[in-house]
Amino acid sequence: MMSTLPWWKTSIIYHCYVRSFMDSDGDGIGDLPGLIGKLDQLNDGTERSLGIGGLWLAPIFPSPGMDFGYDVSDYCAIDPTYGTMTDFDHLADEARSRGIHLIMDLVVNHTSTEHQWFREARASRASPFHDYYIWSDKVQGRPPNNWGSTFGGSAWEWNAPTGEYYLHSFLREQADFNWRNPEVARAVHDIMRFWMDRGVDGFRLDVANYYVKDALLRDNPHRIVWSQPMPGNPCATLIIPVVQEQRDRTVDQPETHDSLKAMRAVVDERPGRMMVGEVTHRSLDQVLSYYGRGDDELNLVFNFFFMVRRFSAQAFRDIIAQTLARLPDDAWPAWVLSNHDVVRAVTRYRLDAPMTKAMNGLLLTLWGTPFLYYGEELGMANTALSRTTLKDPVGLKYWPLPVGRDGERTPMPWDDGPNAGFTSGTPWLPVGTVQDTYASQSADPHSVLGFTRRLSRFRAEHRALHEGRMELSSGSPPTVLSFRRSTPDETLSVAINFASTSTPLGAGSEIGGHQALFSSEENPPDNALAPWEVRIFRL
Ligand code: NOJ
Repeated sequence: MMSTLPWWKTSIIYHCYVRSFMDSDGDGIGDLPGLIGKLDQLNDGTERSLGIGGLWLAPIFPSPGMDFGYDVSDYCAIDPTYGTMTDFDHLADEARSRGIHLIMDLVVNHTSTEHQWFREARASRASPFHDYYIWSDKVQGRPPNNWGSTFGGSAWEWNAPTGEYYLHSFLREQADFNWRNPEVARAVHDIMRFWMDRGVDGFRLDVANYYVKDALLRDNPHRIVWSQPMPGNPCATLIIPVVQEQRDRTVDQPETHDSLKAMRAVVDERPGRMMVGEVTHRSLDQVLSYYGRGDDELNLVFNFFFMVRRFSAQAFRDIIAQTLARLPDDAWPAWVLSNHDVVRAVTRYRLDAPMTKAMNGLLLTLWGTPFLYYGEELGMANTALSRTTLKDPVGLKYWPLPVGRDGERTPMPWDDGPNAGFTSGTPWLPVGTVQDTYASQSADPHSVLGFTRRLSRFRAEHRALHEGRMELSSGSPPTVLSFRRSTPDETLSVAINFASTSTPLGAGSEIGGHQALFSSEENPPDNALAPWEVRIFRL
């Protein structure tokens, strides 16, 4: 039976860092024609492809590239590095014919300082665009407050032509919009309509909780907190007390919700369109508040909480239980394990192939929309890069420490040809040492890719898995994460063994005695789960 739910609830959404996906013209940078040539791998309608239904493109608008596209200088064009508007239209047609919905990265907390609006705004206080941005005079010879840029240093930069500071929550080349000016909202709504008219199905909203800032520019408080270690990040391994800016005046202002609700009304002008928001820095409740009353603000809000936890059944169970308990009625979860800003899960958790299958198994069987970062279907790891190859300005800032976000953004390893088949030129970031390419895994049904494709197919064929509500099961062994997914006509039980030893299914277990419909193992044992096994039963 056809699903009655919208595509963005039932589909797997693939996060494509276009720059690193496939290069067609030999300049070493991925582009739209390259991506079009790989769409069949993402969904060709058969079990030989990944079967995705949504494709989120990292920003492809013209940009000086200080933050690799997160500094937009023209919202209604395509950066020549990635192709032309004709290429984009071609991509939209080709995607649509494969049942793939396109999501654009809408970066509207800030523009590039090279955007025409900012160029005019910074030239004169009389410019009609001046009030598109946030300005302040000197206060006692200094910036007006203690707000810090997320990327380090003060968030204020001096602008000599007008004799004021402008605000930048990120790099100084990324000037923050003044969302208190209704003209800004109108301009953003026009950008959204422009892309929806060209066939775009949705938007990923960059730092959606940052838009509106305190009108009185009051200081942010500082607090001493325990640092949060991020496994795999050499800069974040210690749990130590640190002084941290609490962004109480710069993020999560109540008016931001009004701005997002107004954007939601624009999205709802066209059927089947959606917005997914990046909401960082805050508690689960604050993150979930961006669903509004449930379904009147963002359609989806990324749940990033797995990314800061250990790789264990208990840690994942806790996050799932808290999310299920606190998610507003009518809201739909969205799960993430890797993206272009954090160390890839495979490196973070030090996963081998069987463990990676358990992780992808979790992502694809949970209730909610799974976001799969390119390469995750292969179990792609971060690439270790030498200092001289780093490109990310954020990484360069901490030079000589080997941090930054380049390691999780390296080219997709397609085959064992030169540069792993990504480019005939010099790749913009090194490909690294690649053992398991797309081509080698494609031929092996038991590879991570083979498993992920098979599970994607199974997920699409079972409504309970892509639609059904979820209930955590009690009474399973501590290393087993087990839950039910059900629709009125089917109940499936998923069991994932987060252990390197096989785990007996106790007599009381609800899954004992049921025949497996799906397993990550070729020959699953009878009364136990194999190490890292993902098994699905019908109850
Ligand atoms: C969040 C994006 O994911 C990140 O890559 C970017 O640097 C910042 N927002 C600023 O736009």
